[in-house]
Amino acid sequence: MSTQSGPRPGDAWQHMTVIGCGANRVCVIDRRNTRQCLKFMLPAGQRSRVGLRQRLQRWRAARKPQHDENHAELRAWLQLSARLPASELQAHMATVLGILPTAYGPALCCERITLADGTPAPSLYALLFEQPQYPAQVLCAAVDAFEDWLLRHRIALFDLNAGNLLVLPSDAGVRLVCVDAKSIVAGKELVPLARWFNTLARRKIRRRAQRLRERIRAALPA
Ligand SMILES: Nc1ncnc2c1ncn2[C@@H]1O[C@H](COP(=O)(O)OP(=O)(O)O)[C@@H](O)[C@H]1O
Ligand SMILES: [Mg+2]
Repeated sequence: MSTQSGPRPGDAWQHMTVIGCGANRVCVIDRRNTRQCLKFMLPAGQRSRVGLRQRLQRWRAARKPQHDENHAELRAWLQLSARLPASELQAHMATVLGILPTAYGPALCCERITLADGTPAPSLYALLFEQPQYPAQVLCAAVDAFEDWLLRHRIALFDLNAGNLLVLPSDAGVRLVCVDAKSIVAGKELVPLARWFNTLARRKIRRRAQRLRERIRAALPA
């Protein structure tokens, strides 16, 4: 997803090419290896407006980098990869490689999700609001498959934001790949009940997937 003030795909950011930008971070092509990307925390003035709880999180992260979004995503990835084999994760999750120091500050290095020819994979957000390419039915079927996968592996990924999901062609239709796993460890709620009780987590994932299908149908009427 793009923010209003953040850099846009294709822009130059600190001499690197922007792939995308979320509420907190800008993602650029890693020039050392273009099959990888680097995520940097956006300066305060370029981040999108968020609620009180997330403002508090940002305030903590400004004081201790271990509380920032890059560290949250790294923790989420370490949890997932300790529990599930790479063969299970690679179809639906971008691989996180680690945090590295750069001339522009610490960056989270990840494998880049691209189409087969190396061009950027579109986000679900772009396919809904910028460059529609698939009918709602095809995208909703991909959400069904992603939801089943999360439930099957008990992955408490609650932020099913269309900007966090990239869309790749697959055998029958399309497949969703999550590029932002931080919500597995960093929720927006004060008392994370759904993280403690599996039944609540399953219900929450179902609700979020249903909401996403509704957004898809609203954006791409039949
Ligand atoms: N591994 C990746 N491969 C390709 N593009 C990515 C990858 N990770 C992030 N992006 C792009 O960067 C954008 C913002 O990344 P994201 O991790 O969601 O940042 P934020 O924490 O600000 O939400 C995504 O919408 C996507 O376009
Ligand atoms: Mg995101």
